[in-house]
Amino acid sequence: MTTTTATTTTTPAARVVDAVKVYGGGDTAVRALDGVTVTFPAGRFTAIMGPSGSGKSTLMHCAAGLDTLTSGAARIGDTDLGGLDDRRLTLLRRDRVGFVFQAYNLVPTLTVAENITLPLDLAGGRGDPEWIDALIDVVGLRDRLHHRPAELSGGQQQRVAVARAFAGRPEVVFADEPTGNLDSRSGAEVLGLLGRAVRQTARTVVMVTHDPVAAAHADEVVFLADGRLVDRMESPTADRVLDRMKAFEVPS
Ligand SMILES: Nc1ncnc2c1ncn2[C@@H]1O[C@H](COP(=O)(O)OP(=O)(O)OP(=O)(O)O)[C@@H](O)[C@H]1O
Ligand SMILES: [Mg+2]
Repeated sequence: MTTTTATTTTTPAARVVDAVKVYGGGDTAVRALDGVTVTFPAGRFTAIMGPSGSGKSTLMHCAAGLDTLTSGAARIGDTDLGGLDDRRLTLLRRDRVGFVFQAYNLVPTLTVAENITLPLDLAGGRGDPEWIDALIDVVGLRDRLHHRPAELSGGQQQRVAVARAFAGRPEVVFADEPTGNLDSRSGAEVLGLLGRAVRQTARTVVMVTHDPVAAAHADEVVFLADGRLVDRMESPTADRVLDRMKAFEVPS
């Protein structure tokens, strides 16, 4: 008799194994990641949650190749980031990863269209014009293409940043508190957009947030506490995430 085991056949978009990150040394050393193993499956929207200081940004930065681990391994696709020199790491970040931060980080002198294609222009390519065109509709910015960032609302600026992150068809987009500066309505638009980008274009998103409503847009939430992975939740709702977060609070 043969047994069938449910295995994931696709390579994870990103993965960290036994990740340890220590900042500083001696008496002031901070163990920001204390042995985290987590997989971010391809084609999924994963949220990273946890209290302030639990290591969310550190995990994202190390998984994305913006920072290096003290020990353990980080992989994008099947590429081990620890084996890359600075030049290759820069190329990997440019060609295979997209980023969205709380501050939109748009170039004020460039138009919306120019901001969206900036990473491709810097890489010396034109990218895929059909993809960029479709992306402009996904983020709903077709009538703003020739505006400058200062002429846009915060939500619109973040939608430009989302389009820019996806412009080069990256394997994975990392977003750190992408709605942290937005009101709830603009935030919901940006989150809906990230969800659509995952579902309609089969991209992968990993998002750090402290907001249960934001996390509820993800397919799965992973919870960090004190630099450790303490829980995962499939198909989250804001209420369930909130309940889980309350469990982290120190009883008074
Ligand atoms: N560059 C750094 N140098 C020293 N310590 C750092 C550095 N970056 C982060 N830390 C420390 O590492 C721990 C984890 O920080 P991290 O920024 O990953 O937390 P976070 O979960 O993203 O928090 P927040 O929700 O406030 O953004 C904290 O104790 C923080 O003070
Ligand atoms: Mg953070």
